[in-house]
Amino acid sequence: MSSVRPLRVPGITYGGDYNPEQWPEEVWAEDMRLMREAGVTMVNLGIFAWALLEPSEGVYDFARMDRILDLLQANGIAADLATPTAAPPAWFFRAHPEALPVDKDGRSLWYGSRQTFCPSSPAYRRAALSIARMLGERYAEHPAVAMWHIHNEYGCHNAACYCDTSASAFRHWLRDRYGDDLAALNHAWGTTFWSQWYYDWEEILPPRATGAPPNPTHQLDWRRFCSDELLSLCTAERDVLRQAAPHIPATTNFMVMRTFDALDYWRWAPELDIVSNDHYLMSDDPESDVDVALSADLMRSLAGGPWLLMEHSTGAVNWQPVNRAKHPGEMRRNALANVARGADGISFFQWRAAIAGAEQWHSAMLPHAGTDSPIWQDVVQLGADLKALAEVRGSTVAARVAIVWDWDARWALELPSQPSGELRFQDLVRDWYTPLWRAGIAVDFVRPDADLDRYRLVLAPSLYLVNDAGAANLEAFAERGGTLAVGFHSGAVDENCHIRPGGYPAAFRDILGVRADELFPLLPSQTLQLTGQVRTGATATQWSERIKLAGAEAVAYFADGPLAGGPAVTRHAPGSGIAWYLATRPDPVTLAALMDRICEEADVQPVLVDAPSGLEVVRRTGTDADYLFLIDHAGAGAKVVADGIELLTGHAVHGAVTVPAGGVAVVRESHSRGFLDDV
Ligand code: GAL
Ligand code: ZN
Repeated sequence: MSSVRPLRVPGITYGGDYNPEQWPEEVWAEDMRLMREAGVTMVNLGIFAWALLEPSEGVYDFARMDRILDLLQANGIAADLATPTAAPPAWFFRAHPEALPVDKDGRSLWYGSRQTFCPSSPAYRRAALSIARMLGERYAEHPAVAMWHIHNEYGCHNAACYCDTSASAFRHWLRDRYGDDLAALNHAWGTTFWSQWYYDWEEILPPRATGAPPNPTHQLDWRRFCSDELLSLCTAERDVLRQAAPHIPATTNFMVMRTFDALDYWRWAPELDIVSNDHYLMSDDPESDVDVALSADLMRSLAGGPWLLMEHSTGAVNWQPVNRAKHPGEMRRNALANVARGADGISFFQWRAAIAGAEQWHSAMLPHAGTDSPIWQDVVQLGADLKALAEVRGSTVAARVAIVWDWDARWALELPSQPSGELRFQDLVRDWYTPLWRAGIAVDFVRPDADLDRYRLVLAPSLYLVNDAGAANLEAFAERGGTLAVGFHSGAVDENCHIRPGGYPAAFRDILGVRADELFPLLPSQTLQLTGQVRTGATATQWSERIKLAGAEAVAYFADGPLAGGPAVTRHAPGSGIAWYLATRPDPVTLAALMDRICEEADVQPVLVDAPSGLEVVRRTGTDADYLFLIDHAGAGAKVVADGIELLTGHAVHGAVTVPAGGVAVVRESHSRGFLDDV
């Protein structure tokens, strides 16, 4: 987190979204008492309070907010004070109906929920900036205000608006991108295809619903535009707040989830003082612990160090088809897994379970049942845990492995008209991440053009689109001695979604020492057998391609299907490094064995050799000490070699620490290992 505007709330911050405006004031006193009991140190305040703060345009009522901020201050609780701009009031839309968004099919949406506004609307921007300015100026010096919470989850419900105002904003963005050169746009989009050539900027529209598939580059630029358009709202609010209160750090809550991909957070993260994330479990995900870890590692990578978990849940959410409750101990493991991976704050949606409104069935720190409930006991316990972990703040995770994560590549892969419509970027990445998680190997996420010097192993599970600089960067990494592994259908297109001709996986052909002349994607029902240096019974799904070796050796082959006898996994030794290609999607056991071999050859070590299975092992490394996090997901408990102090119990550890069944241990290690094990 940036040191220019540090968060002044000490330790690991603890709290939740707090909506006192939904409750009579008598309840506030009880809130304060219970927050103190739970060890809450910071709450996210006023996120959806616009209608009460500004009852009509330009008329403000801050009395309630004044009282609640004073009350928080009196109770030693800090406020992460929100600009309420995710939910404009009804009066705003009656005055500015043109600010309502229009969907792809041309349907105009109505107010009556939240985040239903056009991101390009000048009226919305004006209204949002004026309430942000009012809050900034009024509360800049309020001692309770520790951070600004800009908006809420940009793009969660309105990532794209297809109205005429948005069309015009899109054209501006395109003129900027293409240096006002329409021919350059036509070439980039390949508009000689299907008679799509544009003669006038005004002819260009958002990719509204069409009868046949729309132009891929048009859609890709649209995704880039939509991300940038929301970012410009965020930075505009940030600037207003910075002007009013230059000392207060600002964040906005990201959301890294399989189901949300609207924003290119590599472009967002550097604009914020503090990076924060919201993460929710999917009820039908049998391995949600992996998802928690992946999103946390991605956040730490975006932040370049510690970050805050802004929202997760104590129990069930209310927006999935069936919303499962958490198992005993699961909430604590979720929260502490985030801390293990760099979170310096843990917060929930929400403090007190709502009685009315669309989220009345969402869990909270204080459930409908009240304090006589396991959830409340767990919330109090977690507060004590985080207090005991205060000193880990500021430490980070040192990884030798990087996974390439790129939103352009994700968007392009998931456009229509692909060889297979079955490929999902986050699933492909998670495939490769999972065995590393299980093995307890620390992982960072990087952009394709990142500085890779500190890594021994770089994985690109899915990099369909890559620009020349990114491809050259990965290639150079392998040539100068690194180990690179690339997943199928990577390197296929450039930044304009143009095929890189000459055979697949085009941009990586040379470094991988292979050339494929035709792709053979598999039907959802199809499974191929693999043979070679893989376990008996190894299988693969989703993808295959006809490969000729051009310097690489084949490690595994397809054993059946039209490509029987052809390479499925290859290994090449270019320059002084190693480059692997996985031309299919191996079953999890086979993939884990391959990852094992790849890591071993790359001299990548797990945090703990021979850790019991089901034990999540992460080390946070600080300037004064290292912290070993041990989280038992298997429910069997574990005994692990360690020396130091177990912080959650305060007990000294001599030789071995016991992790209770389903529990967590965090050891401040006696011997600091330094930032990296070998430097
Ligand atoms: C988040 C949102 C919160 C709340 C929560 C419910 O997406 O930011 O306001 O709606 O989901 O899970
Ligand atoms: Zn619009």
